[in-house]
Amino acid sequence: MTLPPLPTDLVQVRFAQPKDYPRLCELDCVPGEKVTRRLVADQRYIIAEHNIRAIGLIRLEHIWTVVPYMGLIWIEPDFRKRGLSRLLLSFLCDHLRSEGHKTLFSSSQANEPEPQAWHRHVGFVASGRIEGINDDAIDEVMFRLSLTGDVSDK
Ligand SMILES: CC(C)(COP(=O)(O)OP(=O)(O)OC[C@H]1O[C@@H](n2cnc3c(N)ncnc32)[C@H](O)[C@@H]1OP(=O)(O)O)[C@@H](O)C(=O)NCCC(=O)NCCS
Repeated sequence: MTLPPLPTDLVQVRFAQPKDYPRLCELDCVPGEKVTRRLVADQRYIIAEHNIRAIGLIRLEHIWTVVPYMGLIWIEPDFRKRGLSRLLLSFLCDHLRSEGHKTLFSSSQANEPEPQAWHRHVGFVASGRIEGINDDAIDEVMFRLSLTGDVSDK
């Protein structure tokens, strides 16, 4: 069953705050609590909240400290295909533009077609791959998204 997009006035997209630690650790178990606290302080987590509950997030990282890289975008399964990833991505892109960035990088495992299709659908273009970086030597497909509409942006 396809549900309609969640009305934007029922979803709050914002940077995570210290009060969000417990929920962030549930949603994203990779960094661990200590690193999660640092990431929150550095405005590296953006959450989508519905009925005072985070139902999706983006974890922002940087390549070489300065190149924006989306380490994770994740939407709770019951809320997928309702426009939340677009809301989160739009918030992130506005933020990066306000800081003068021109490009956002992201990536997906080479053996996972769905996330790759999503990246392409929302405007990312393939940008090479890192061979064998994952478990079982699976490649990682890199993607980049122009923040200015110019495909040649670096
Ligand atoms: C991929 C994911 C983030 C998409 O989130 P979502 O909230 O369901 O996406 P949205 O509803 O905002 O969809 C945005 C657009 O992408 C399209 N889309 C959604 N999932 C898609 C998929 N798997 N393949 C292709 N297009 C997809 C939607 O149809 C929509 O198109 P439209 O705006 O042109 O109508 C979500 O499915 C998810 O959390 N997956 C598990 C984690 C993951 O794979 N993350 C990405 C790689 S790190």
